[in-house]
Amino acid sequence: MIFDRNENKEVVVLLGAGSMGIAIVKRIATGRKVLLGDISEKNLKNVSELFQYGGYDVDTCIVNALDKASVEAFAQRAASLGDVMYFIDTAGASPNQASPEHILNLDMVGTGYAVDAFGKVMANGGAGLLVSSQAGYMLRLPDDVEIEILSTPTEKLKEIEYIKHTATNSGLAYMIAKRVNHLQAQRAAATTWKMRRARMNSISPGIIVTPLAYDEFAALGDGYQKMIDASAAMRCGTSEEIADAAVFLLRDATFITGTDLLIDGGVIAAIRTGMYRLGG
Ligand SMILES: NC(=O)c1ccc[n+]([C@@H]2O[C@H](COP(=O)([O-])OP(=O)(O)OC[C@H]3O[C@@H](n4cnc5c(N)ncnc54)[C@H](O)[C@@H]3O)[C@@H](O)[C@H]2O)c1
Repeated sequence: MIFDRNENKEVVVLLGAGSMGIAIVKRIATGRKVLLGDISEKNLKNVSELFQYGGYDVDTCIVNALDKASVEAFAQRAASLGDVMYFIDTAGASPNQASPEHILNLDMVGTGYAVDAFGKVMANGGAGLLVSSQAGYMLRLPDDVEIEILSTPTEKLKEIEYIKHTATNSGLAYMIAKRVNHLQAQRAAATTWKMRRARMNSISPGIIVTPLAYDEFAALGDGYQKMIDASAAMRCGTSEEIADAAVFLLRDATFITGTDLLIDGGVIAAIRTGMYRLGG
């Protein structure tokens, strides 16, 4: 049976078909073509079934966010399906899942590959969203380093002296990579994505209950509990709450580009005011 006879549909692309990405895409998938990209074939199969049985028009593509050629091929595949209206990047690894090098390669350089590749195919009026983290607010990078990051091509980011010397463990690598995501959104908004009349923003979730977060909880003892207790919300967030903000930035906020939205229940406010001490 043919559920939908419409042609020339706008395309919604998700890189990293994980928990938060699924929640976001479901909100904007109706009447559009969905392209899911992930490194895990098994994950893609499960997620695409979820979309199919929900009545969505879905396609999948194996893509390795660490590999520039793979990401470029993914962007071309998206463009071959129609006007690429929304791009969401959630491919990432958390500190307890990976080495500092892997985190820099995936969360920082891999995100850069995606921003660069989709900056060549986005439709006029389209929008992108990078899923960063509250960790991007935990380490203040010196101004001159931020300026250097903003003017450094993706392939050379890991050669920046500050990054080489500071990303000595997975936690620090994650904080740097996630701050770089904010700057990547800013740069794209002002340059390549601007030229295509497309917007680009990032969001920085706090502690959101997903399988990735469970890995973090298991590794950090009661550190997360203390962080939750010190926050204004006094609870974890859900992927649905992230999707609310994501839909606002992707679809509704037509005058917002090059910015980051922190959605952390007040964790960073607690850290900045001394109500919670990192590692405490
Ligand atoms: N869950 C949280 O509490 C939290 C908080 C802040 C930020 N984040 C960030 O949000 C993003 C999504 O997190 P999530 O909790 O939905 O995680 P998730 O693990 O559910 O999703 C991540 C997805 O990325 C895919 N992936 C991993 N490596 C890849 C690669 N090389 N190429 C392509 N795909 C790859 C995984 O297969 C997975 O489907 C991550 O970047 C994470 O750092 C998560």
